[in-house]
Amino acid sequence: MMDRLRAGFAFAGLGCVTLALMACQAPGKPGPGPEVPRPSHVLDFATLYQQNCAACHGVDGHRGIAVSLANPVYLALAGKDVLINYTAKGGPGNLMPPFARSYGGTLTDQQIDVLVDGMISRWGHPGILAGSTPPPYAAAGKGDPAAGHTDFEQYCARCHGGDAAHAAAPALNKTVQAGPVTNPDYLALISDQSLRSTIIAGMPDEGMPDWRGFGPKPLTDHEVTDIVTWLATLRQTTPGQTNAK
Ligand code: HEC
Ligand code: HEC
Repeated sequence: MMDRLRAGFAFAGLGCVTLALMACQAPGKPGPGPEVPRPSHVLDFATLYQQNCAACHGVDGHRGIAVSLANPVYLALAGKDVLINYTAKGGPGNLMPPFARSYGGTLTDQQIDVLVDGMISRWGHPGILAGSTPPPYAAAGKGDPAAGHTDFEQYCARCHGGDAAHAAAPALNKTVQAGPVTNPDYLALISDQSLRSTIIAGMPDEGMPDWRGFGPKPLTDHEVTDIVTWLATLRQTTPGQTNAK
């Protein structure tokens, strides 16, 4: 997981350098082939997504190194305002860069709108949460880490291994290959919100259930908050890192 994240960010960095180089060559040097529209004029979802998001979130919005965006439960849970806000300002952990020009990024508000509308219309599923009450997108406050530890052992350890001691023992009933989300280095890279979003919305294409699928009863808002609070206590905080709130 860590390696995937690291490699992915390195890759994304390279992509940016490549883009910058291409941009530098553009003025006064019309190359052969069709005219390339100025970056701020691109309003095609596929192009915008490919150039700005695919390196980290996967070519088709899943199986990337960060949250699956092509997850109808996630899109419905977050809603349009959150999607626009996150894309514009970036993640609290600074690994998801800000994209809005007003936050130092390269995209116009209109382009961010095209991206968010495109994700919702292509990958969303109107009414997918009808009749169900998921825990809210944002946590109301801090939870109880001890309760979260117990919940993690009960709901998560069968796929992710438990705490360090637990993970060292072979998990006999492990059927799905999932990363050690209790790894402090992994946790240092990912914000509490990102953990919460993943627990509630799951990663359907990867085999991670949503809040309804971990046990006989759906996870409650409380349980999700407790689990995230416990995971946060394991995080290795690096000086200067802002996500360890
Ligand atoms: C350099 C890698 C990278 C790129 C490029 C990137 N993201 Fe992200 N994205 C992340 C990471 C990492 C997270 C989790 C951030 C955190 O820890 O809060 C994230 C989180 C998100 C979230 C919020 C998930 C949640 O929990 O609600 C949205 C929405 C999102 N990205 C959209 C986009 C869009 C749209 C683009 C393209 C314009 C994009 N991202 C480009 C790495 C990236
Ligand atoms: C049925 C197996 C299963 C259960 C139960 C499960 N997960 Fe997952 N989880 C997965 C798989 C598979 C992935 C994606 C593969 C991976 O780890 O990268 C994943 C991914 C994640 C991720 C994102 C990390 C990543 O690799 O991108 C987090 C965070 C996470 N799970 C937390 C939890 C928590 C917390 C629980 C308990 C509430 C839980 N999971 C229960 C299978 C499971």
